[in-house]
Amino acid sequence: MDKTGSPSKKNIRDYWWKSMVQLNENIVGIDAAIFMHPTTWKASGHVDAFNDPLIDNKDSKKRYRADVLIEDYVAKIENKIKKEVTKAAKRFGDAFDKEQFLSANPRVVEYQTKAESILKRMGQSLEKEDLADVKSLIEELEIACPETGSRNWTDVKQFNLMFGTKLGASADTAMDLYLRPETAQGIFVNFLNVQKSGRMKLPFGIAQTGKAFRNEIVARQFIFRMREFEQMEMQFFIPPGTQKEWYKYWKEKRLKWHQSLGLGNDNYRFHDHDKLAHYADAATDIEFNFPFGFKELEGIHSRTDFDLGNHEKFAGKKLQYFDPERNENYVPYVVETSIGLDRIFLALFSKSLQEETLEDGSTRTVLKLPPVMAPTQLAVFPLVKKDGLPEIARKIVEDLKWDFAVAYDEKDAVGRRYRRQDALGTPFCITIDHQTSEDQTVTVRNRDTMAQERIAVDAIGELLKEKLSFSELLKKL
Ligand code: GAP
Repeated sequence: MDKTGSPSKKNIRDYWWKSMVQLNENIVGIDAAIFMHPTTWKASGHVDAFNDPLIDNKDSKKRYRADVLIEDYVAKIENKIKKEVTKAAKRFGDAFDKEQFLSANPRVVEYQTKAESILKRMGQSLEKEDLADVKSLIEELEIACPETGSRNWTDVKQFNLMFGTKLGASADTAMDLYLRPETAQGIFVNFLNVQKSGRMKLPFGIAQTGKAFRNEIVARQFIFRMREFEQMEMQFFIPPGTQKEWYKYWKEKRLKWHQSLGLGNDNYRFHDHDKLAHYADAATDIEFNFPFGFKELEGIHSRTDFDLGNHEKFAGKKLQYFDPERNENYVPYVVETSIGLDRIFLALFSKSLQEETLEDGSTRTVLKLPPVMAPTQLAVFPLVKKDGLPEIARKIVEDLKWDFAVAYDEKDAVGRRYRRQDALGTPFCITIDHQTSEDQTVTVRNRDTMAQERIAVDAIGELLKEKLSFSELLKKL
């Protein structure tokens, strides 16, 4: 995966970091510890309230998240709505009005009402910790074990998601530790350090990327849900009473960031939470249309003063800010943006990987990643392995590798080399042929259009700088 996965992940991480830390004077970046004092997780509420509702099937012995079983049932209803829309669009052609169809077609309205009422009831039952009703809902909907079809369920139970480990050389003195289930707490416990040492004035943010760990019972759907994953989080510290305004601001900002990647605005939607996490007074997910349906990509949470307030209590140390305008000390409120790096990678990868039929009837696999996110930015080919062409190609690689991710390939016919780079997502390939030694020009081939043009060797660097710059994306934000 090195030449596809990890460099692309790094590019996405860089884009997020630049959009947060580089573009905003009032957001600073940190890198906090993974291991923190265990009381941190007592204060944050994770020891007592970071649970998933689990249910076992007595026949298959398989364990599921009860809320995911119900959400999957709702996703099936949503698929039925999609099918009705596709059928009607075909029937009515250009005259088709999707919005009107969704609000007027009796079957679709019935599906929508059913989906909404199921999600509402589940949200309310989870909120009230009424796990018996979550089980009743599963039974009423006749949800069966996806593997065996059995409907013989146990009661729903809460299960804590934190991974525990030990610190210390001997068993008697060892201290229980937890691997962090979110990076956010590293930011909260460092709030005062950053505020004082950076002389930061509210509102200001602290951003961080890093690994988080959760004992997910059902880790599946490729890299959508993992036990070890990377988060990119930003806590924005604000005066109490301004949280609604900042929550709205960050919702819009983050949606724009996603849309700037060009995966299609229709592939995103907000899902406001009915069941709020233990720390939030408002929360929404930015959902993405993954190959398996709309699912959470990023969370935006208004976390009130819950975290800082609790760390104050548990640490016995003030975590307050003196506001010169209000002339008072207070515990700041927080609006957080939290995105899984692996999930945004999956979103990019799944929408970019395409199978195209070409004019001559042949097909090609092409990974149409936004060029700045591509793992390799340029591939350099000598047309043949002789006549001094490999040497010229190697020299071009040597000159450009300082600024760009460049690959060299001399194996097989050029057509096959193009296909290989298409599948890897390389946005540009250049070919060195016999004309290059005469007039120092090369052919540049564009991954998406497959168009080729001749440019001077000296112009390659400028072309790449123009096409592969983060600034064009950042200016859209
Ligand atoms: N600090 C808030 C927080 O952690 P969350 O909604 O639990 O909120 C935020 O997680 C984001 O982290 C999610 O939107 C998702 O992108 C990512 N994420 C959460 N659990 C994950 C998992 N098991 N595997 C991969 N990504 C995950």
